[in-house]
Amino acid sequence: MKALYVADTLQAISVIEEVSNRRRQSMPGISRRKFITGIAVAGSGACVCGLGGCATFTKIGRTPAISAGAYVLGNNKVKIDLIKVPELGKIGGSVKITDSGLSQPIIIARNSEAEYAVVSIKCPHRGVEVEYRHTDKQFRCASLGSSSFAMDGAYKKGIAKKSLSKFNAKLDPLDKNTLIISI
Ligand code: FES
Repeated sequence: MKALYVADTLQAISVIEEVSNRRRQSMPGISRRKFITGIAVAGSGACVCGLGGCATFTKIGRTPAISAGAYVLGNNKVKIDLIKVPELGKIGGSVKITDSGLSQPIIIARNSEAEYAVVSIKCPHRGVEVEYRHTDKQFRCASLGSSSFAMDGAYKKGIAKKSLSKFNAKLDPLDKNTLIISI
């Protein structure tokens, strides 16, 4: 039991090291010491799930929210005016919709010229937002647990163990600037 405790602790430390290194690399000019201190301060409202679990420093991911006038809800559909969503103008972009009219908040990722993947944005583990990573075409939890999910929301790895909900999305055949999501 004690050996398990130590192993889990070492694993948690290595995950924290890996994530802090990755994030620090994206913040040139910030020393490792300052970065770690920043994490400690930012983590004051954090959820630390426990040994072998996920240590959550951010509950909100980096996915931008869609602008309010860019979509309409109705008849179990979300219709998005893509002209008003510059984030989806390029392949690899993503936005989120957290409208209370939805059964659950969603993330929309443009993964090819005419394909959009739409899944629930809350990680099944502790509800932290997932983010779209176009480099490996997957959704990944923004927490340190870093659970990951395939483009259709299927669970791939990590502590979440469950899949995200998937929603069908297609371009309106009569108007290629309108994306229709069935909810
Ligand atoms: S909230 Fe813990 S892995 Fe996503």
